[in-house]
Amino acid sequence: MDGSSPWVEQAVLHDGAEAQTIAGFWFGTKAVMKIRRPKGYRHPSLDLSLTRRRLFAEARILLHLSNSELPIPKLLDFDEDNATIIMTQLSGLPLFDILRNSHDSERVSKLMHSCGKLIRKMHSLGISHGDLTTHNLLCNNLDSIQIIDFGLGKLSPEIESLGQDLQVLSECLSASHPKHDDAMKFVLEGYSQGEQNEPTIEEVISRYQEIQGRVRYHG
Ligand SMILES: Nc1ncnc2c1ncn2[C@@H]1O[C@H](COP(=O)(O)OP(=O)(O)OP(=O)(O)O)[C@@H](O)[C@H]1O
Ligand SMILES: [Mg+2]
Repeated sequence: MDGSSPWVEQAVLHDGAEAQTIAGFWFGTKAVMKIRRPKGYRHPSLDLSLTRRRLFAEARILLHLSNSELPIPKLLDFDEDNATIIMTQLSGLPLFDILRNSHDSERVSKLMHSCGKLIRKMHSLGISHGDLTTHNLLCNNLDSIQIIDFGLGKLSPEIESLGQDLQVLSECLSASHPKHDDAMKFVLEGYSQGEQNEPTIEEVISRYQEIQGRVRYHG
């Protein structure tokens, strides 16, 4: 970009398979640019539609949630032609790193409890996330949890997608953080103390248990 661009690049944060995430400044505000790039091995037109779908989903959800109290980035710019979005930069570290490095089980149980509450809040605002791993939950220096990466999210999801969110987190916890073996218990406790609206907490948790049964049975 030229010298007059409102975007000033600082550092590449993450170079993923589908997106590159870069930290910088947008009109002087600390920001993150996410650039979605096509995957070489997919058919070009399929690539373009998947890329666009994820880009649109993320922008739409960030906008939809922008007036909520949910701790998520604020959408600052959306450029369809260049397949980029720009959002505010959050200050947290991935929960992945915290869980890997912490031996403080009381701290971890509190963090997981607040994840559960936050997930319920997101669900009760009519959003499923689609990729709820500990890399997409950030933890700031006050131990507050924030959520990022809504490219696989859905507006007005079916109960199945809500149950899947819990399932994805549960799988991530047992695969990547086995030493915190009761982490999911605290997530479910937090979830159960969240907003009581439709679909109910019981409906989502029982769908999650059903999905777990299916996964166990089919391997
Ligand atoms: N708004 C943000 N504030 C601070 N850090 C961020 C922000 N967005 C992304 N990051 C950092 O960049 C990493 C990658 O971003 P993100 O999870 O959105 O992309 P991704 O996982 O590559 O995308 P996808 O899985 O949809 O292809 C995050 O794990 C996080 O460390
Ligand atoms: Mg991610």
